Amino acid sequence: MKSSFILIASLALAVTVNFAAAAEPGAKSAAAEINQVCPISGKPVNPKITMVYEGKTYAFAEEACRTKWRTARENSLYHKLGGQPAIDAAVEAFYVKVLADNRIKHYFEDINMTKQRRKQKEFLSAAFGGPIPWAGKDMRKAHANLPGLNETHFNAVAENLQKTLEDLKIKPELIKQVMAIAASTRNDVLNRPKDSK
Ligand code: HEM
Repeated sequence: MKSSFILIASLALAVTVNFAAAAEPGAKSAAAEINQVCPISGKPVNPKITMVYEGKTYAFAEEACRTKWRTARENSLYHKLGGQPAIDAAVEAFYVKVLADNRIKHYFEDINMTKQRRKQKEFLSAAFGGPIPWAGKDMRKAHANLPGLNETHFNAVAENLQKTLEDLKIKPELIKQVMAIAASTRNDVLNRPKDSK
């Protein structure tokens, strides 16, 4: 009796764990692992030189690297916007607008939006100076197979982003910086020559 209870309990646990993993296959686990390569110098880290940022521990090769990294984080647009929770909230609200926008929503019909939201959070976090570099596709490749993608679609996405940030009461000078970064992706997203105006 006791052993069948244990069997049922462990089966239930296995199902729960698998279900959680199936929610987004390929998503990185949140388990805390410390980097082995210094994000500033590229050299192996000294495990005694660390810094915790947003609950994650980062290691560095030298004290000077830690200082440089800390300063970069503190001065970043990412930090000024409110870090990960603020970017996450903005991306969630942004895709509500995008998916309701008749000019562009058809592009997302067959897209796994759970993954898309995660990728956009990661991309924008990195683009705004967050702690984790973007490891996904470059913007040309990511948008290369979207039929008829043009200026009007790009402007619609930018408009939705701007409106999202205004709704969230982000300071105008920060919105301006976000929009400049978004605009800097235009030629890549539209697969136009790098120097197109
Ligand atoms: C500020 C401009 C934009 C940025 C920063 C951006 C960012 C991204 C990122 C980070 C990805 C995921 C790349 C990956 O898979 O690694 C992506 C994919 C995608 N983007 Fe954009 N995007 C922009 C503009 C647009 C526009 C204008 C459209 C269409 C209206 C669009 C539609 C899509 C679609 C449909 C995908 C999924 C493609 C796929 O999985 O096959 N994006 N975008």
